[in-house]
Amino acid sequence: MNVNKKYQEKLVTIPEAVSKVKSNQKVVIAMAASEPQGLLHELENRSDELENVNIVSCLMMGDYNFLKPEMKGTFLNETWFYGPADRENHKHGNVTYIPNNLHEAGMKKLENDNLNIFWGTATPMDENGYFSLSLGLTYEKMMVENKNTMVVLEINENLPWTLGDTQVHISQVDHIVENTVPLIEVPPIEPGEEEKKIGEYVAEMIEDGSTLQLGIGGIPNAIAHSLRNKKDLGIHTEMFTDGMVELFKEGVITNQKKTLWKGKMVGTFAMGTKKLYDFIDTNLAVEFQQGNVTNDPYIIGQNHKMVSVNTALQVDLTGQVCSEAIANKHYSGTGGQVDTHRGAQRSEGGKGIIALRSSAKNGEISTIVAELPAGSKITLGRNDIDYVVTEYGAAHLKGKSIRERVDAMIGIAHPDFRDELREKADKLKLW
Ligand code: COA
Repeated sequence: MNVNKKYQEKLVTIPEAVSKVKSNQKVVIAMAASEPQGLLHELENRSDELENVNIVSCLMMGDYNFLKPEMKGTFLNETWFYGPADRENHKHGNVTYIPNNLHEAGMKKLENDNLNIFWGTATPMDENGYFSLSLGLTYEKMMVENKNTMVVLEINENLPWTLGDTQVHISQVDHIVENTVPLIEVPPIEPGEEEKKIGEYVAEMIEDGSTLQLGIGGIPNAIAHSLRNKKDLGIHTEMFTDGMVELFKEGVITNQKKTLWKGKMVGTFAMGTKKLYDFIDTNLAVEFQQGNVTNDPYIIGQNHKMVSVNTALQVDLTGQVCSEAIANKHYSGTGGQVDTHRGAQRSEGGKGIIALRSSAKNGEISTIVAELPAGSKITLGRNDIDYVVTEYGAAHLKGKSIRERVDAMIGIAHPDFRDELREKADKLKLW
């Protein structure tokens, strides 16, 4: 096969590729930093001709006009994880959430829905006709391999060539568009005093030789700063982050004590800054695997001393964790929180950690609550919870009674709210 000839045959303009979308279709797009920015920006230009088109996304990072209020009825964003613009667009009725545990998201969608088109992003093709799916492999390759889906790849020269299960051959692709644009970057937050304290407590719980998953959000990334004195850590994660690059370069992450993929960091998507994207480019120490592999609790649990660190918005005194919404206000998604928290507890010597600041909104609100507000969405159930950590310490809830949990949780709540929490717990007869 002359792969260059094939490439030229499949090369179309962005408007041509977008013209393939028909009313009542579903278009799945690659997630987060690997979303096809050119195709998504073009979509609004079809608004007069189309109706009832669903974009199926996950953590969409851009703010696209096809989701503006006036597009209601034309386009709907069906998403596995809300991105920044989705919180606003939700108010106009243009966004809806797909409840999921991330390791099953793609599979369940393919089994139970009719997906017509996949829009992904990839590196330029190599001389053998292969592309790398680069920053995202959570469900993207599954969509390429689904025989009923038209596959369109947006080629961006800035994307790193990542290794692992990322390759797609030109013969698997229907159309190619070229669009070299800056990559989406999300800088990590600088840890403040509270994050540093939380980091110290979490670091105390992580033994040398442990394998880590660090989740999305400010706190897990800040925790990386507290792990500088550890030895021989490994990474088996969902998301590769900037914090991991620093720990690797400092020799803290060696991956040498890992049970699975010894010598390699394993993950399914990357989101951070150019520092991270340069680091993962053709790096033999970084392995991308599909989300149904990296996030499968049974696979995660085969690592020894597996520690997962995720964060939350609210936790109640019995250990119910809300990470994706405050009452009826949807914020993000479950992502891999349940996958990784459960997986870590299956591991020999493993720990599942939920780490959060004890208060929000400049200390006005306690994130530890006696009772969740009406309409709350439970991300991690109290039957699954292991550890909760705040800047006031760690509460080990696994196997403990409600009475013991209430005491432990009040012990790590902000001191300003402890009396109130005790009064409410008594009133609710949480004993
Ligand atoms: N009540 C009201 N508001 C609260 C709150 C509470 N208890 N806790 C936090 N907030 C507000 C914050 O003040 C902030 O508001 P702002 O945007 O106006 O500043 C906002 O909610 C987000 O809080 P923040 O702590 O900055 O969030 P984050 O970016 O660190 O993300 C999660 C935290 C929990 C939303 C995020 O980690 C998540 O979505 N987790 C679920 C998925 C997951 O863990 N996956 C793991 C595998 S990657």
